[in-house]
Amino acid sequence: MSQARNSPPIDHSTGPAPALPDAAALARLTARLDRPVVMVGLMGVGKSTVGKRLSQCLNTPFVDADDEVVKAAQMSIPEIFDRFGEDFFRDGERRVIARLIEENAGRPAVIATGGGAFADDETRALILDRAIAVWLYADLDTLVARVGRKNTRPLLTGRNPREVLGELMEKRGPAYAQAPIRVISDAGPQSNGVARIIAALEDYLA
Ligand code: S3P
Repeated sequence: MSQARNSPPIDHSTGPAPALPDAAALARLTARLDRPVVMVGLMGVGKSTVGKRLSQCLNTPFVDADDEVVKAAQMSIPEIFDRFGEDFFRDGERRVIARLIEENAGRPAVIATGGGAFADDETRALILDRAIAVWLYADLDTLVARVGRKNTRPLLTGRNPREVLGELMEKRGPAYAQAPIRVISDAGPQSNGVARIIAALEDYLA
């Protein structure tokens, strides 16, 4: 990796989204990726959707850590929280992400994580060491609008999403800010987010 650990983050958040490079340039970028790209950021920001599209553009495997937790526990996330509590979920999440990082070590892949994963000290240290973390972020209005479409998030159940997301934004912001790449996921098409990540990865590997 040519970007030193303590360099300022590469920030692709202003101005119009760049165009997607052509297939040959994308293939060259993928060939230079010697570790997985890990999507981090708050609930509703689009880590899974954007991450999946990114993996299609880069022609790499894609895996969603939340889906893997569900598979391992054979229970939905609301059910895990309900029956065993958040700490139990976090333990499972930590183990699953460690496994996914191990399975994808040294090769290009895209891993989407749940919103709390990168706030966990151990998981964050592992991702920073063995992967390229991309913090996908959006303003509160965009997040509230996006989470409104899904009812599968126990941290939001029975609470005001704006309040919870505002609190989490403040609490987790310093952790997310440790990602070497940050990209805005604004109200435009998700392909904008993908194009911005690709441009940021090009800069990161330059
Ligand atoms: C959580 C986010 C969720 C899921 C769980 C907890 C969080 O994932 O892991 O409900 O703590 O922010 P998404 O970010 O994919 O919604």
